[in-house]
Order: sequence, then C-alpha cells, then structure tokens
Amino acid sequence: MTPVARIIDSGLAPQGGAWLVDRFGRSIDYLRISVTDRCDLRCTYCLPKGFKGNQEPRQWLDFDELERLVGAFARLGVRRVRLTGGEPLLRRDLPALAARIKALPGIEDLSLSTNGTQLAQHAATLRRAGVDRLNISLDSLDRACNAGITGRDAFDAVMRGIDAARGQGFSPIKLNMVAMGGVNEHEIESMVEFAFTRGLILRLIEAMPMGDTGRSVRHVDLGPVRERLVARYGLVPEVLELGGGPARYWRTADGVGRIGFITAMSQHFCASCNRVRLTVDGTLHTCLGQEHSFAFRPLLRSGAGSDEIEDAVRRAVELKPERHEFIEAPTRIVRFMSQTGG
Ligand code: 5AD
Ligand code: SF4
Repeated sequence: MTPVARIIDSGLAPQGGAWLVDRFGRSIDYLRISVTDRCDLRCTYCLPKGFKGNQEPRQWLDFDELERLVGAFARLGVRRVRLTGGEPLLRRDLPALAARIKALPGIEDLSLSTNGTQLAQHAATLRRAGVDRLNISLDSLDRACNAGITGRDAFDAVMRGIDAARGQGFSPIKLNMVAMGGVNEHEIESMVEFAFTRGLILRLIEAMPMGDTGRSVRHVDLGPVRERLVARYGLVPEVLELGGGPARYWRTADGVGRIGFITAMSQHFCASCNRVRLTVDGTLHTCLGQEHSFAFRPLLRSGAGSDEIEDAVRRAVELKPERHEFIEAPTRIVRFMSQTGG
C-alpha cells in the first residue's frame, strides 16, 4: 500500500488533501528527530575524535517546542517518528518526551535508534513510554575491532543493552551494521548468525560520505554480499513492509531470519524517500545528502500559532530535493552523521 493509501485507510487523513507531498510526488509520513548531537562513542564513520562543535543547550528545542512541532507534522499526515541522535539516551528525560510524542493524535509508530551503551538502564522505561521498535548499532562482535570502530570498549554494555531490549519485548529489534571494507566486512556471516539466533533483524548499511569521517571509510557494495547470503541461507525477498524505511529485506524460507540491506551508495532509493530529519536545534533537513533545510526554532520561539507552523512545515517539505549526490559530489556534506541524525 502506498503511504497515502495507508493514511486514507487509517481513517486519519488530514482534511482537504492537506497531507505532505513534496514536489516529486513523494508523501512524507516519517519524521526523524535528533534529540541530541552528543554521543558517548566516536564511530569512525560518524564523529571525529575530539569533536567540539556541539550545539549549546539554549539552542536545543525543548520538549514543549518539540511537541508543538511534531503535533503539526502529525496533523499533516506524519504517522511515524524515530528518535535518534547523537545518542538519544544522553538527552535527559527522553522517555518523557517519547510518551508525549506517542500520545499525539495520528502518531502510530515510535522508534528509537541507539548505540546501546545506556540501553540496559532505560529499556523498561522506554517500553512503558510507548517506544515500539528499536535499532541498535553493532558493527562487530570482536571486542577489539568493535572498540577500534567506536573509539572505546563499550562491548559489554551494548550486549547487556541488547539483552535488556529483548527482555522488554520491543518488536522488532534491528541491529545496524555499517559494512566497511578492510574493517568488518569479513564478519558479516557471524553477525547474521548472531542476529538469527536471537530473533533480531540484521541490517547491513553502505557507509555514506557524511563529513570527513564518513569519507574516511570504504563502503562495501552490498549487491554481491546479498547474492552470497541469499545462496548461503536460502533467502527470499520479504513481502511485508518492515518499518517503512529504505532497507530492502530478505528472509529465510521459514520466515524466522530476516536481513535488511541499505544500499545508500550502490543503488539509491531516493524515489521512494518518505522522510525528513529534524536536528536538535530545530533545523529540518530534507535530505541526508543535500543542504536544503528549514530553521524552525525562530518560528517556534516567536510564538507562532498552529496554522503558521503547519504552513511552514508544508513550505519546508517543498524544499526536499530529488535525490542525494553522494557519488557525484562526495565532498558536499560537511556535517557529520551525528549532527543530522542517522
Ligand atoms: N554512513 C552510513 N550509516 C551511518 N550511520 C552513522 N554514520 C553513517 C555513515 N556515514 C548509521 C549507524 C548508526 C545509525 C544511527 O546511523 O549505523 O546505527
Ligand atoms: Fe555515536 Fe551513533 Fe555516531 Fe557512533 S554512529 S558516534 S554511536 S552517533
């Protein structure tokens, strides 16, 4: 079902055909919110060591501002929200924000992307707050390799986080693995086994050239990897939609194991992109691989009413460009992934 058909079917269609459709006919029903640009890790493809460019707290949207803005998106047809970062669990009282967003009329699905280091402490509260689904970063099962990627050894904490999440019944739980040439590509099969035996969905991601860090790693073309895994595990294409993102999923014949492939570089999926991204300072980025953005903070702090905010959301979505140009213009994006939100 197309996003628009799904919205109509849900009985929550905005009146008068007012939902968000961009200039290229794509319905925007998915908002990703980076609730902090801070992180307790320094993944090689994401954040430089010694990074000092964080936003100051007075620049952060507070929870009231976020609720007003997300409410406008929801009235215009956004149905899914993902909380991300940086590391979102570093934002104080995040579960309280999660609960407020989940309670907004129209929001059907709330998910969280985390590096897992603090997840064991927060899993139960997040579940109670209404977070439905989790994505956890895990690039390697080898402690030393993992520490080499993340900048410090956080392996045990992340493993405890994964166990805690499983215990709370988040469904599904996905593991994000950025596949990097010469770093962890030889571990893909072990990650598949790890995920399959725990009922987790592994998502393999082609590294994107976001900032100098993103350009410092070599992405692995997932086409041949997929062929290899299809043959080895007898995978068939998944027909169910799993989360509405860009990943293409394959599953084992018995339906028990699932693997997602995010081919951001080798086969871009911009034509079906349904999302926009809000950063902690209230800037809406309309594409990961372009600079087109809209600053909401001044508007929110000027006391704008609901209609004005909705108008601005529509105008912001109109800025969304047709596609990224990571291949043609690999040095264009100077901001790091942690600043925009993965
Ligand atoms: N390319 C691809 N994925 C990235 N992530 C962070 N930086 C990059 C990059 N340069 C992903 C990580 C993390 C998610 C939040 O963003 O997989 O799990
Ligand atoms: Fe932190 Fe996630 Fe970036 Fe790693 S990828 S440094 S965990 S924000």
